[in-house]
Amino acid sequence: MAPPATVDGHREKILILDFGSQYTQLIARRVREAHVYCEIHPYSMTLDAMRAFAPRGIILSGGHQSVYADGAPALEPEMFRLGVPILGICYGMQLMARHCGGTVAASNRREYGPALVTSLPDCGELFREFFQETPTQVWMSHGDHVTALPPGFRVAGRSDNAPVAAMFDPERHLYGVQFHPEVNHTPRGESIIDRFVRGLCACQGLWTPGHFIDWAVDHVRATVGGDQVILGLSGGVDSSVTAALVHRAIGDQLTCVFVDNGLLRLHEGDEVMATFAEHMGLKVIRVDAQEEFMANLAGVTDPERKRRIIGHTFIRVFEREARRIDGARWLAQGTIYPDVIESAGAKTGVATAIKSHHNVGGLPEDMGLALLEPLRELFKDEVRQVGEELGLPHRMLYRHPFPGPGLGVRILGEVKPEYADLLRQADAIYMAELHASGHYERISQAFAVFLPVRSVGVMGDGRTYEYVIALRAVETKDFMTAAWYPMPYELLSRIANRIINEVSGVNRVAYDITSKPPGTIEWE
Ligand code: XMP
Repeated sequence: MAPPATVDGHREKILILDFGSQYTQLIARRVREAHVYCEIHPYSMTLDAMRAFAPRGIILSGGHQSVYADGAPALEPEMFRLGVPILGICYGMQLMARHCGGTVAASNRREYGPALVTSLPDCGELFREFFQETPTQVWMSHGDHVTALPPGFRVAGRSDNAPVAAMFDPERHLYGVQFHPEVNHTPRGESIIDRFVRGLCACQGLWTPGHFIDWAVDHVRATVGGDQVILGLSGGVDSSVTAALVHRAIGDQLTCVFVDNGLLRLHEGDEVMATFAEHMGLKVIRVDAQEEFMANLAGVTDPERKRRIIGHTFIRVFEREARRIDGARWLAQGTIYPDVIESAGAKTGVATAIKSHHNVGGLPEDMGLALLEPLRELFKDEVRQVGEELGLPHRMLYRHPFPGPGLGVRILGEVKPEYADLLRQADAIYMAELHASGHYERISQAFAVFLPVRSVGVMGDGRTYEYVIALRAVETKDFMTAAWYPMPYELLSRIANRIINEVSGVNRVAYDITSKPPGTIEWE
């Protein structure tokens, strides 16, 4: 019997047009959670490009301007002729209303935050589940609102401040919501997205980790043929899942290079080798470059210079190893969808560079290798699901983020091997206690920091004069802002006791209670 044909999850696509909302990525995540493939494109996408994309439906995002403002993002009017269902959210709904002959005006009162929406008796298929309780809570964020309904439309729900909080035209399959169904503060909001993509756009939900893996395996095989591929394995989620996926596709044609820069966590190198080389059978070259990194970092105290040195040294070491691999033509990288969106500049506004973030990416073009980026369509949660399906350990997939420069930015000032050793031990005790107490999973990121200052203490009958370890733990959704984690006192006390007793050279432990802003998460 012939093997079943691979199901391509890209067969059903939703197009999300970005009008500059801070929530656009969340819309995409909700669509993917409904197991439907989608892409975010700038609102200025041409009609030809839309046709070529062939979406089953279109979602217009919110935006922060007024539809009447000079230079405000406008929609491509011809998209309404494509004949696919369209859902407008907030600004997107206002654009739709105006285009279809309704009126949009500034409200007397701007509405930001929670609001109650009351449904009308016949609220249509899209909203039926959402409005099973009425009034229902939603998250609003608007200054303007629709004041006169366009011809052919009906009101599905209204709030005190928005006479048209939800509207629809069942004939043309056009839908609009003034509130944000994509955010968690709108309970059951996901039902609107789910009904839209699976009900109205008639998508079956083909975008699953299993189908993605089958498709990606075919795709990687077809792309690289018989060529050799190399990959810089860091032990982080993205490079690990990329390695497992590419290995499933082409087996021994993949060689991974794992660089030990001396700035990794305790036993990290051994764990990476155990998982990938021993357990999964990947070809992994472990390069011990600790001395080279330490030599280059000697005497350097400036955080940004340290980052640059670590980045450049990595590239040199990696390049050297890569040149030894005969016939390597491809470089596999763990680029994921948020990286793609950000570098495409689909997001408006320019972030201020507070820290330069070096990742394993940024390898020089003159290496003459073509890029293979099999995860570039996935969000982080999807990468984790794919990793799980490929059999990677849960702990590896759900680990807190670890910065590219590693302990290099957690040892304040000059990096020395003996500092790295102390920090590794302290950090391992901290992590072990967080896991044992169940707090690890509740924290977004936790780590120990080495302070190269000494303080006086007393242990037994003797005076000590030793280094300080600071403990950091934060809760955050997006790592742009973060709150310090309210760690129970008994747990803090146990961690501090263990570090002071077990790590010789440390006699004091402090807990960092700085949020971001004003602090950053890392200390450097
Ligand atoms: P900050 O310290 O800027 O950190 O609040 C936000 C998130 O980014 C991580 N981070 C880095 N990641 N290279 C990286 O790959 C870096 O140089 C770097 N600096 C910070 C940090 O761990 C946190 O998750």
